[in-house]
Amino acid sequence: MFEKFFFRKNEKRREAGRVSGGLHKIPTHVAIIMDGNGRWAQERGLPRIAGHREAMKTVKKVTRETSRLGVKVLTLYAFSTENWRRPKKEVEYLMKLPQQFLRSYLVELIENNIQVRVMGDMSRIPDYTMRAIHQAVSRTKQNDGMILNFALNYGSHSEIAEAFRTMIHDVRSGKLDEEQVDEKIVSGYLLSKSLPDPDLLIRTGGEIRLSNFMLWQLAYTELWFTDTFWPDFDEDDLHEAIRDFGKRQRRYGGLKENRSEK
Ligand code: IPE
Ligand code: IPE
Ligand code: MG
Repeated sequence: MFEKFFFRKNEKRREAGRVSGGLHKIPTHVAIIMDGNGRWAQERGLPRIAGHREAMKTVKKVTRETSRLGVKVLTLYAFSTENWRRPKKEVEYLMKLPQQFLRSYLVELIENNIQVRVMGDMSRIPDYTMRAIHQAVSRTKQNDGMILNFALNYGSHSEIAEAFRTMIHDVRSGKLDEEQVDEKIVSGYLLSKSLPDPDLLIRTGGEIRLSNFMLWQLAYTELWFTDTFWPDFDEDDLHEAIRDFGKRQRRYGGLKENRSEK
């Protein structure tokens, strides 16, 4: 068992050694589906929650490194609208994580000029979690460095349904003219309204799917998947993803890399 992990890690380092450096094109917005915590724990004979606990360390590492590299927005998928289907104990543990994470890390976030935000349906989030989130958001509001945006009880379908509800309400009350509804207006009704669309999406844990994450916003995002479980994901993996991103030619349906020619 030990040998297997040791080998995998070393192999990964060698691989990363080849690709590190040359991070010439840094994505403005990186979004991450942090998957594989449960399997990481299970492989070690540990309960799933041990994987979620370990995951916080990766969140810290990746936040520090993306901020250092000059990424402007980091969106982390922490809990989906479908994750309520998990056993009560696991859900309870996951809901305690924001509080735990911020207790040990808020000071560093403040010092590093990071702005904490949250994106999702907050109506089902327990009070103690909301208190920790409100505190983090308000204490980092004045910062103007990287935005650390947690997608918590987030799901694209619910986000889009809510956008429809609000939009219809605004049309009925005369606040919005239905003839004006275009892509920009629709974007403005989504939870991500103040943020640019992600440039790079990373999903760890080996699944090649989006699991109801930012479906509208990912229309032209570069996608990057890895088998590495989130607790094992490190700076080298992040560099590899960003290096690969740098090699992609984004055409947005046109013929060369220039969105204005859309
Ligand atoms: C991701 O890891 C964290 C959440 C979805 C909250 P998982 O808990 O989904 O881990 P796996 O996919 O079961 O290994
Ligand atoms: C996606 O992971 C949600 C988060 C990472 C928060 P899941 O583990 O819930 O996704 P599925 O169920 O495998 O699609
Ligand atoms: Mg999973």
